[in-house]
Amino acid sequence: MIVDEIIKKYEPKEENILDILHDIQDSDPQHYLNKEVIKKVSKHLNISLSQIYGVITFYTMFSVKPRGKFIIRICQSAPCHLMGSKSLIEHLEQLLRVDVGETTEDGVFTLETTSCLGVCGVAPAMMINDDVYGNLTPERVNNIIEKMREE
Ligand code: FES
Repeated sequence: MIVDEIIKKYEPKEENILDILHDIQDSDPQHYLNKEVIKKVSKHLNISLSQIYGVITFYTMFSVKPRGKFIIRICQSAPCHLMGSKSLIEHLEQLLRVDVGETTEDGVFTLETTSCLGVCGVAPAMMINDDVYGNLTPERVNNIIEKMREE
């Protein structure tokens, strides 16, 4: 099983926890960490489940709930906020018919917020999976989502 192979790649050292969790989550088609996987990581690293859940809940990029094929993260740090990210979030909520933190019924999109993506010069910005998009307007967001739907 792929999760076992990922875990085996890493020495059982606590400092590897983030890399292991990232790799496992990236390999999951629903981009999340399920209970069984978390137990395996806990056993491999010999650290308690509550410590692992502490890490998972601290970092917003980890999820214990199944997510969509595309994870949309809208930046809501100050520069993006000033450039209208709040109204873009509302726009996306209407467009996708979900609230922040939810996944569309067809399992294609999950809408999340994030802190600064490091591209404040092109605020407002968002990330979809590993790609960053800046200078967003509602029209540009519509076009991006439309293209994703075709994939
Ligand atoms: S504040 Fe949004 S990218 Fe920096």
